[in-house]
Amino acid sequence: MCGIVGAIADGDAIPFLMKGLSRLEYRGYDSAGVALLSEGTIERRRAKGDLSALRELLRRNPPRGAIGIGHTRWATHGAPSEKNAHPHIVGETAIVHNGIIENGGALKNALREKGAIFTSQTDSEVIAHLFHAFLADGLAAEDAFAKTLESLEGAFAIAALTCSAPNSLFAAARRSPLVIGRGGAGVYVASDALALAAEAESLIHLEDGERARLTREGFSILNAEGRAVKRVPKKMALQSEEASKGGRRFFMEKEIYETPEAAARALAVPIGEEDGFSAARMRDARQIFFLGCGSAFYAGLAASCWMEKLAGVSARAEIASEFRHRGAALSKRDLAVFVSQSGETADTLSALRHCEREGVPTLALVNVVESTMARLADWTLSIGAGPEIGVASTKTLICQMILLARLALSVAKPAEAKEAREDLSSLPRKLQEALALSEALRAMAKDYLAPSDYVLYLGRGAGYAVALEGALKCKEIAYIPSDGAPAGEMKHGPIALIQEKTPVVVVAPYDRLFPKMLSNMEEIAARGGYLCLLTDAEGAAASKDLTRASVALPAAGEIGAPILHALAAQMLAYHCAVALKHNPDRPRNLAKSVTVE
Ligand code: M6R
Repeated sequence: MCGIVGAIADGDAIPFLMKGLSRLEYRGYDSAGVALLSEGTIERRRAKGDLSALRELLRRNPPRGAIGIGHTRWATHGAPSEKNAHPHIVGETAIVHNGIIENGGALKNALREKGAIFTSQTDSEVIAHLFHAFLADGLAAEDAFAKTLESLEGAFAIAALTCSAPNSLFAAARRSPLVIGRGGAGVYVASDALALAAEAESLIHLEDGERARLTREGFSILNAEGRAVKRVPKKMALQSEEASKGGRRFFMEKEIYETPEAAARALAVPIGEEDGFSAARMRDARQIFFLGCGSAFYAGLAASCWMEKLAGVSARAEIASEFRHRGAALSKRDLAVFVSQSGETADTLSALRHCEREGVPTLALVNVVESTMARLADWTLSIGAGPEIGVASTKTLICQMILLARLALSVAKPAEAKEAREDLSSLPRKLQEALALSEALRAMAKDYLAPSDYVLYLGRGAGYAVALEGALKCKEIAYIPSDGAPAGEMKHGPIALIQEKTPVVVVAPYDRLFPKMLSNMEEIAARGGYLCLLTDAEGAAASKDLTRASVALPAAGEIGAPILHALAAQMLAYHCAVALKHNPDRPRNLAKSVTVE
């Protein structure tokens, strides 16, 4: 989604703004721009497309200034274009904005009646007009900024400049992340701490409704009521190399290869009484809801299977964007577990706020520990995956599954728990072994999936969650239309899509459901479909006469097998994307963190 950077630098602000913007590229964007404040004027450069277009503009005609703001835009209101790109300038003000101004239409009409002329189709431009109008009314810059914020409805993060306060930068956050950083060479603001990885030594996250004024000397923060906020800055935890590809071609590849290490960390994350969350919460729950979007939802789906099977606790996975609207019957005796890499996904946050209003206790599993979700939930567990830059979630899904499995195990029946614990603890080694199967997965992708215009993924139980994950990744980064279906459902509809050579990826470890999967495979083979099997050695041997290609993963149990298969499904999609010459880190139209509903 959109990204914000801002700086009051010791020298020229452009190098920082451009470095910061390039560290935000992973979030997805379609245009970018910067504005610099110097000697009483604001200069702006904006370009449609990626940062190379903006870089070229800056090279030909560099603006100067030590105070500046920058933005990568992911279009919501108005098509990607130079005019719609941020910063927006009105008179002596310039702003950049993430989020949606929900009363943007009404504000636009009111401003137009007073003579305002809009030059973009965005909702964001109203912010610059309001700021300008309040300054024109004679308010001091800080008050004009506060009045502007009061007029806005919705969730947003904003950074703003004005010639009326030539040594300041203004920032505000309402239900959207914004972080202030301080380093040896300046004071910074960004929508993602990663943008400040090399410059800031300490960080302060703005809380909901807070605004800040940055100057060369430092910054002051006020809450929504205008009272000063004092908060101790945190040490910057990110290293700049964590935002680099570490010699790999793509971030997605690098992050897939980091999975075993990340899994070992997820296995070591303390789940304890120290932060007030206890296993009894789950054991005594009337119902556990696992909520998330996209891959995070699939992790919840696998968890609901484990929770019911191993612990006998009623559990269901819910798509967060649907949950609030479908009128689920909730009780204070329920537990809602929110799963999110970013901790900023708007739909998941809305579902969390809904649960809070209904009095349902909430637990968040996040990768970004300083995220809004982590701050809002009653309890938070970090999945410990480390920064993930690739838009596709890879190692984070694996870590989410591991942590959710550990939650299920913490309330499992003793007989079930022992074996499952051993299964889980062997995962880092087995994930490493699975990575060594990359070449076989690459061949499967190249020979069967990439040449096809449709792929069907099938699985059962937690393997169904893996089938969904495989299909989502295949659509997301390889742009191949794909479906994930429960294998038993195939004959109720999806089988109609199977023709000669249609590739069907079957997720089938050699377990109690394997005979049923074998029947499904017979049905596919009988129709000429190309069976691409993800299994283990026994599964491969038992189905060798049916399959076109099979990859034998290390044998594992009820929990370990779907996790290993999920890694294989991700690698398969990665190889499809590369075979088709798509950049898996930058899938079209997608954003890493989806901060609008
Ligand atoms: O940050 P979150 O985990 O809340 O994100 C949820 C989804 O947007 C995310 O998993 C998405 O589906 C990925 N692009 C999948 O690879």
